[in-house]
Amino acid sequence: MSTQGSPDVKPDVSRAALGVVRAAVIAAVACGAVLVGGLVLGGSVTEKVIPGLGDAGVLTRWGLPASRAAMDLLSALTVGALIAAAALLPIEAGRPGEGAKEGGRGPGRLSKDAITYLRAASWLAAVWAAAAAATLVFTVADVLGQPVGQVVTGSELSSYVGSLPQGTALMIVVLLAVVVALLARTTTTPAAAFGLLALAGIALLPAPLTGHSASAANHTVATTGVALHVAAVAPWVGGLAVVGVHALLRRDRLPVMADRFSRMALWCYIVVGASGLVNVIARLPDPVELVETDYGRLALGKIALFGALGWFGRWHRNRTLPALEAGRPWSFARLASVEAAVMGAAVGLAVALARTAPPAPAEPESAVKALLGYEMPPQVTPARLATLWQLDLLFVVLVVALGGLYLAAVVRLRRRGDSWPLGRTAAWLIGLATMVAVTQTGVAKYAPILFSVHMAQHMVLNMLTPIFLVLGAPVTLALRALKPARVRGDRGPREWLTAMLHSRYVAVIAHPAVATFIFVVSTFALYFTPLFEAAMRNHLGHMAMSLHFLAAGSLFFWVLLGVDPAPKKLPYPGRLLLLFVTMPFHAFFGIALMNLSQALARGWYASVDPPWGTTILKDQHTGGGIAWGFGEVPTFIVLIVLAFQWYFHDQRQARRMDRKADRAAAPGGRAEDDELAAYNARLAKLAERDKPE
Ligand code: HEM
Repeated sequence: MSTQGSPDVKPDVSRAALGVVRAAVIAAVACGAVLVGGLVLGGSVTEKVIPGLGDAGVLTRWGLPASRAAMDLLSALTVGALIAAAALLPIEAGRPGEGAKEGGRGPGRLSKDAITYLRAASWLAAVWAAAAAATLVFTVADVLGQPVGQVVTGSELSSYVGSLPQGTALMIVVLLAVVVALLARTTTTPAAAFGLLALAGIALLPAPLTGHSASAANHTVATTGVALHVAAVAPWVGGLAVVGVHALLRRDRLPVMADRFSRMALWCYIVVGASGLVNVIARLPDPVELVETDYGRLALGKIALFGALGWFGRWHRNRTLPALEAGRPWSFARLASVEAAVMGAAVGLAVALARTAPPAPAEPESAVKALLGYEMPPQVTPARLATLWQLDLLFVVLVVALGGLYLAAVVRLRRRGDSWPLGRTAAWLIGLATMVAVTQTGVAKYAPILFSVHMAQHMVLNMLTPIFLVLGAPVTLALRALKPARVRGDRGPREWLTAMLHSRYVAVIAHPAVATFIFVVSTFALYFTPLFEAAMRNHLGHMAMSLHFLAAGSLFFWVLLGVDPAPKKLPYPGRLLLLFVTMPFHAFFGIALMNLSQALARGWYASVDPPWGTTILKDQHTGGGIAWGFGEVPTFIVLIVLAFQWYFHDQRQARRMDRKADRAAAPGGRAEDDELAAYNARLAKLAERDKPE
């Protein structure tokens, strides 16, 4: 009995391949059938007469959801094939001397199967790009109410792609999928496969983030919710498909692959369920609508399928995975094929749901609510900034994930009997608390309306939160808490983290000059170009802006204060110098804002202008004052922290020197060791140089 998971009898390849085709066809038919049923039930394929808008025709009414379903399925399969290559299949140890230093083994290599999945991903991504292009054309026809033929031959397509978020988003999906398709043809290293996976992950987001959730009630929650949803659905659906194919073809390393997939699938299941419910609540604030509306009934169908998929997962964990581990993969392969069909049906239902209009809100939505996703709040006061809560789903997920992972790592160290400084845990949690304070409270509610409040939010995310996060030393904690990979040469999370820390990318991005450049220049580049208004106008832009502030600040303060290992550590005088060189730029930025004669992002602020506010320009001048004044706070904190770090660093140095001297002075030992001698010689030379002539 071989341990590699495949039974000792190799399957008849053509019969196994037939099994794969059969499972794929059943899943596609299930998706198609449920999609058709859902579209008819939801009424989204019946001709609608909208005053002033023509009819796009039957081809578009059916073509759009069909191409969308194809796009969703192919994106999931592409992500699944890339995950198999980069993370599910063990990486093989490099051969001795292969690009290795000092006779060690070279960096890990992708296995033959992993390369095969990369090539498969290349084809899948090419078809994904085609499906996205078709969805783009059908979406233009649908929005303009014109038959597809007219759109394809006319100039509408190009103007639509540039002017409307959905058009731009789908165009980005097409371009990114083409890039993935091209690069997956030649990728051979684990790091590059991981990079491709990240690229495909990004390509999943533009479409749902600009879908009709962008116009739903609570649209900020709805869009983040559907993006999280799709980001969890794709690796789950695609991963199952690839592990199922691997099982049907009885390929090697199946138990490791299935085990890793199963652990990932559990987290995907939790995120899909939670984000799915958030999506439904954002669109159907009244639970009764779940049974009384078409949209609600389709969502109920999805919840039922979700429950069934939970049962499959449980059965795998209790039955088929142990059987697979024991060398009997057949039950796993069979159940995975049925499960793939249920997933196909869920995707079909999802697209029908996305094509079905949620029930219209009881009250007609005001222009401000359509822009903000909530009504204009009352006059801003410090009390309201602190007490009026505003859910930002992205940052809720971020805070819960960062907090949960950090505490889980600390608990693991403690259980192992290792200690972890309380100060670091406290710093990390304070960092997360500052993040909550400006992304979930009244600050988040007023930030899109008032530039001054936006600036306070920006300053905290960019210059305060990062200080505490880097003092939490998350990289050191991760390296200490993560277990090494079980298989020699393979890459688990710990090895990936180490590889990333030693990568050329991190060496460049974490170089003090580069980190400072990003920290300073990106602020000016954002606010004094049209980029700022574009970012304020759509949710995707807004999310990217907040994440950029946090990332650019974390990078800069990692270089300045970080206790974690970093490619290039500046000596303490260098860090002080970097601080004093950088901080004036923030003051310049604040002063530039205080002297604005023309308002920034005037179009946006005019469209959300509060009846109780001051003028837009005056408010932006206040924002400038906040940027200028706020800069002092982090400077002060950094100075104190640097002073302490420097002091303790010198203490440690002195203790080390003393220990060495003691060792050298020990009975029978040499009086002074070479280093101490060199050090004294340098002091003597200095004294000599300074002696008055
Ligand atoms: C608790 C169960 C679930 C709920 C409540 C739920 C709910 C939703 C909602 C409300 C949307 C947004 C539709 C729109 O744009 O209006 C959505 C989108 C989506 N869901 Fe789910 N879902 C669930 C489970 C699943 C499962 C199990 C899958 C697949 C395996 C899935 C796949 C998708 C996909 C692919 C989309 C994006 C559709 C598109 O815009 O193209 N969902 N879901």
